[in-house]
Amino acid sequence: MTAPRLHFDVITLFPELVEAGTEFGVIGRARQGGLLEVHTHQLRDYTGGSPHPIDDAPYGGGPGMVMRPEPVYASVEDVAQSCTPSRRLLMTPQGKRFNQEAAARLAGESSILIFCGRYEGVDERVRSLFDEELSIGDYVLSGGELGALVVIDSVGRLVPGVLGSEDSPSQESFSGGLLEYPHYTRPAEFRGMTVPSVLTSGNHAEIDRWRHEQATARTRARRPDLLAGATSETDEDDEG
Ligand SMILES: C[S@@+](CC[C@H](N)C(=O)[O-])C[C@H]1O[C@@H](n2cnc3c(N)ncnc32)[C@H](O)[C@@H]1O
Repeated sequence: MTAPRLHFDVITLFPELVEAGTEFGVIGRARQGGLLEVHTHQLRDYTGGSPHPIDDAPYGGGPGMVMRPEPVYASVEDVAQSCTPSRRLLMTPQGKRFNQEAAARLAGESSILIFCGRYEGVDERVRSLFDEELSIGDYVLSGGELGALVVIDSVGRLVPGVLGSEDSPSQESFSGGLLEYPHYTRPAEFRGMTVPSVLTSGNHAEIDRWRHEQATARTRARRPDLLAGATSETDEDDEG
């Protein structure tokens, strides 16, 4: 077993959901190989026997229930004591929008604690416990677990050694501000559709040029908002 490069500690009412979501594929293998550790913590273990253990009605009225501050504080403080997180994240639709840049930044951490909300969310007084509030998109989920899984998956695969090839993340969509170029595999002809001849030419300079053009055209058509921040091949060549 390799020494783990990144620990995740997730506080949640549904640890099974987080466990199940990190058991398979790349992340599952990285866990088994010891490159990543994912520990889940049941929030109900921190209720201290209160009659309204986790949630209570909102002051001022209104629909739904709010997560009480006591178990949130107790759980975060207890878990932080054992895992000494370098980053504490609160999942919330009101947080900063999570993206590939944030994933790359978080992949440089050593230990990340993630708190998953439920109900109408958390009592406002717990916010100071966290370094960052993250949203995975402009929609409301019923809980933070799917958000935590998105963070663990996208951050975990950027940890060196987790993907088979060290440089494959740098080719992917959003790295360098572009969507990725189109992919083809065998057969060379499928239902009358052929593979672009440049890809079978063996000319790697031409293949690189074609892929960059395709990535740029695809980004312009589908996500023009990304192009402003894109690194052009020419800029890189000029610098190097
Ligand atoms: C039903 S939501 C609460 C929404 C809250 N009442 C609001 O309107 O902002 C319950 C929990 O799901 C999680 N959640 C929901 N949508 C999310 C999103 N887009 N990104 C991250 N977490 C989200 C948060 O942990 C949140 O506390």
